[in-house]
Amino acid sequence: GSGEALAQPSWWRDGERQRLLAIAAEATPRYVYHLPTVRAQARELKSLAAVDRLHYAVKANTHPAILRALAAEGYAFECVSPGELEAVSVAVPASVPLLFTPNFASREDFERGLATRATITLDALHPIEHWGELFRGREIVLRVDLGRGLGHHEKVRTGGSGSKFGLPLEQLDAFLRHADAHGVTVRGLHAHLGSGVLDAGHWGEVFGQLASLAERIGSIAFLNIGGGLGVPSHPGEAKLDIAALDAVLRQVKAAYPHYQLWMEPGRYLVADAGVLLARVTQTKGKGSWRYLGVDTGMNSLIRPALYDAWHEIANLTRLDEPATGLFQVVGPICESGDVLGSDRRLPEPQEGDVILIAQAGAYGKVMSSPYNLRGETEEVVLDA
Ligand code: LLP
Repeated sequence: GSGEALAQPSWWRDGERQRLLAIAAEATPRYVYHLPTVRAQARELKSLAAVDRLHYAVKANTHPAILRALAAEGYAFECVSPGELEAVSVAVPASVPLLFTPNFASREDFERGLATRATITLDALHPIEHWGELFRGREIVLRVDLGRGLGHHEKVRTGGSGSKFGLPLEQLDAFLRHADAHGVTVRGLHAHLGSGVLDAGHWGEVFGQLASLAERIGSIAFLNIGGGLGVPSHPGEAKLDIAALDAVLRQVKAAYPHYQLWMEPGRYLVADAGVLLARVTQTKGKGSWRYLGVDTGMNSLIRPALYDAWHEIANLTRLDEPATGLFQVVGPICESGDVLGSDRRLPEPQEGDVILIAQAGAYGKVMSSPYNLRGETEEVVLDA
């Protein structure tokens, strides 16, 4: 195997290998999504007793089968663009609640959002100050910047100085004046500090901070404490402690029982459910470096290039063979940054071997690009 196994069990290691090899034999590169894993993750978060409503942050993976599966698990949906609202509207029943949480969206984007049933989140003065009449008579959500960010990489922190998200608290009074002048009611408060957070405690702090703001505002019914629930990716990294999260949220909810608690996770629901299958094209030695080339790279999965993200990599053809060296796993894209994994301990590769890149269900396909005109990466769904 890869010799760098995670503590977490994974569906692809335990019993699905033959099925994945058959899928790769038809074509590569391909994303494969395992719906039982999506459902299991969805149910785990549904067990959080203090949470009144869970939204799936659609940006992580917009495949219609995943949207349908999560709607069936009782999830609402959080969308950030008219395109995401459209994709969700097509896939899920009209009774499912939607949130529209765009950032630096145009007036036209808001007009399109307002034409749907979505509850709109504003995170700046500009829309309420300049386009206030659009929201007249509406109940809206206000996203605030609590002054700090968190996350697995600087580029995914969405709070504090240097982050473009959220209304700074010093503009809160001005926002409320504009809202009042336009007959707009601020019914919810929202904060999302960042993505890939493994510390359960911070969501309790966010709820507490939003609750004390809500006491000042008076019209608030629900507090959306965002998503950001991380999954361990590096070998040895500990899983987010869901029991601890449950305890923390129950505690803050008991202190402020009059506010509904909403969350909007993306990654946690879909990351482990997806793998990217690729095929070995060539190997190359260069000085002391050994390169293992596969038939897709940053065009399919940009996370390693963009965030130095770690995705476990396994040679599925040789899962039981011992590692023979350290490999740089690279794609065919004309960029030195086109690396899927550095210094990976893998068995001796041969042209045609199937390589599996794990934890590719979140922010994989949705962030892919046509760069170098490599073509779209297909997606395959396993329903059972
Ligand atoms: N809510 C808001 C307002 C967000 O901005 C995000 C993610 C989420 C919820 C869902 O976060 P999650 O639970 O998935 O961490 N492309 C990056 C992640 C960017 C996340 C953007 N916002 C990555 O691949 O790590």
